[in-house]
Amino acid sequence: MRIAVPKEIKNNENRVALTPAGAKEFVKNGHEVFVQKSAGEGSGFKDEAYETAGATILPSIEATYETGEMVMKVKEPIASEYELIREDQLLFTYFHFASYEPLTRAMVKSKAVCLAYETVEKPDSSLPLLVPMSEVAGRMAVQKGANYLEKPLGGRGILLGGVPGTLPAKVLILGGGIVGTQAAWMASGLGADVIILDVSLPRMRYLSDVMPKNVKTMMSNEYNIRNLIPTADLIIGAVLIPGAKAPHLITKDMLKEMVPGTVLVDVAVDQGGCIETCKPTTHEKPTYTIEGVLHYCVANMPGAVPYTSTLALTNATLPYALELAKSGWRDACIRYPELKAGLNIIKGDVVYQAVANTFNLPYVPVSYYLNHN
Ligand SMILES: NC(=O)c1ccc[n+]([C@@H]2O[C@H](COP(=O)([O-])OP(=O)(O)OC[C@H]3O[C@@H](n4cnc5c(N)ncnc54)[C@H](O)[C@@H]3O)[C@@H](O)[C@H]2O)c1
Repeated sequence: MRIAVPKEIKNNENRVALTPAGAKEFVKNGHEVFVQKSAGEGSGFKDEAYETAGATILPSIEATYETGEMVMKVKEPIASEYELIREDQLLFTYFHFASYEPLTRAMVKSKAVCLAYETVEKPDSSLPLLVPMSEVAGRMAVQKGANYLEKPLGGRGILLGGVPGTLPAKVLILGGGIVGTQAAWMASGLGADVIILDVSLPRMRYLSDVMPKNVKTMMSNEYNIRNLIPTADLIIGAVLIPGAKAPHLITKDMLKEMVPGTVLVDVAVDQGGCIETCKPTTHEKPTYTIEGVLHYCVANMPGAVPYTSTLALTNATLPYALELAKSGWRDACIRYPELKAGLNIIKGDVVYQAVANTFNLPYVPVSYYLNHN
């Protein structure tokens, strides 16, 4: 199969969908790889590295789309790319269709096959192509929080781990899923006192088995949260209720109970945030302060570390991409139920119920395409 990798053109997107190591795997398996000139630059991968791996560098985005039978990307195509997408072409990338109608309609019109990273879902309901970005964001949340706790940056001036003879900082983590667990590892590793609040007892049992002694778990409810926030230095929001807006576990009135210089990092901001006063910020202007409490609410945290994020993402996507190249999308989706769940639009039909419902578009069950050639 011919695999094409365009350069990401969405504002501030420095990741790339394939590393030179990934290109080599495709070539080893008898496929051809075409990479747009400087596509890997933002993540630190030079054109020569792709060429050494056996890929061909193409001069333009037009030539790249033109050549690929499967186009691998990171972000959804933006308007200037819509016309470049062909009937029957396979697109493997994040789409987040339900959040943007023009994209959905453009992909229906293109008659391409759209396999969305974010809905690739295993039978146990885990989302293997979202996990790596949650891992990055969870670890970064503590790095950012520790930084902003410094006085010159607006924090209360406490070192996360303290030093002998002083108490360490207290870190509250709301939600003990992927983001929360990674944040807890980082904060506890730096010596902080960590409390994870969750509503799932099985999850808390697991966490108390695997976490070090300076991490405790507690049931997430308003009573416990109100009791804990006056002594917290860093609060990390990491809640997710699939398919719903995050609940506001920290309300505006609670800010008054916090010590000035407390830092809030709301990672769940992309789902509306679990802190009422949170609104999305950017890497250019990541923070703001309300009632003396510093808020960090960047909606695409992994974008700040494109090298790590690209490697983490492609570690997860590559095995699926190799299978798609080997068997073609139809057979690969029959063999791997998680890939089947990733199919959103096929040849002009919306095959993902939630997307069809959101925009009142006709829905065609994916089985129609998997059972007919
Ligand atoms: N800002 C970013 O750059 C960025 C990057 C990656 C992920 N995220 C977001 O981070 C959030 C967390 O993602 P995740 O992968 O860890 O999800 P996850 O499903 O692994 O974990 C969510 C956890 O929240 C818990 N929870 C649900 N309701 C709760 C409540 N009322 N109180 C406490 N805990 C509760 C669940 O039991 C679960 O353990 C999501 O909104 C995700 O989109 C943001």
